[in-house]
Amino acid sequence: MTQDQLKQAVARAAIDYIKPKLFNDSIIGVGTGSTANFFIDFLNEIKGHFAGTVASSEASAARLKKHGIDVLDCNSVSELVVYVDGADESNAHLQLIKGGGAALTQEKIVCALAKEFICIADGSKWVDVLGKFPLAVEVIPMARSYVARELVKLGGAPVYREGVITDNGNIILDVHNLQIIDAIAMETALNQITGVVTNGLFALRPADVLLLGTNDGVKTIRA
Ligand code: 5RP
Repeated sequence: MTQDQLKQAVARAAIDYIKPKLFNDSIIGVGTGSTANFFIDFLNEIKGHFAGTVASSEASAARLKKHGIDVLDCNSVSELVVYVDGADESNAHLQLIKGGGAALTQEKIVCALAKEFICIADGSKWVDVLGKFPLAVEVIPMARSYVARELVKLGGAPVYREGVITDNGNIILDVHNLQIIDAIAMETALNQITGVVTNGLFALRPADVLLLGTNDGVKTIRA
C-alpha cells in the first residue's frame, strides 16, 4: 500500500472508532495535515451524528466548512468528545512529535479540551526514539535568535522554517539532531524558554490511542 492509502485506512478506522461514541450534541476536535484531511473528508459521511467541530488550524476549518460541517469557536466549547489528529513520529508510549504542518500550538489547545486523543498515522511514523523528525518550536518573532541559542544549549540544531508564519503570527524553528529519550523532560524544558509559544512534543499529553496503518492492516495501540 502507498503511504496515502495507509493514511486513508487510518482515517477510515478513526471514523469507525469514534462513531459509537457520538451523540447529537457531541463536538469533535479535528487536527491538521494530510492524514487529518482524509479524516475530515470521511467525517462528511457521518455529519448527522454530531453537533460540530473545533478545528486546529485555518486550513482544517476551511476544509470542514467546505463539507458543510459546523466549526465552532474554541472558546465556546468546554469539552470535546475526541480529538483526532496525525503525527510526524510516535514512540511506544504514544508520545508524539507533531508540528510538521506548523499547527502545533492550536493542536495542543484543541487536544487539551478532549476526553480522548486518537492519533492516526501511517506506519512510517512509528519510531523507537523520538527526534529524527525535526522538532518544531513555535516562537514569538522577536525572540527567534535568543531561542535558537537556547536550543543549541539543549543539544539541538535549530533551523528557521523560511517563509512560514503560523496561524498565530509566529515563526517556526525546526530543531534537528535530537535524540529524545525523556520526552516529558524535553517538552517541559522547551516550554521554559522565554519566547517559546509551544513545542511539537506531545508527551505531557500523549495520545490515548494510536491507529497505525501497516500493510497487515490498521493496528490499535494503547500506551
Ligand atoms: C501538523 C501536524 C500533522 O499532524 C503532522 O505533521 C502529520 O502530518 P501528515 O498527516 O500530513 O503526515 O502535526 O502540524
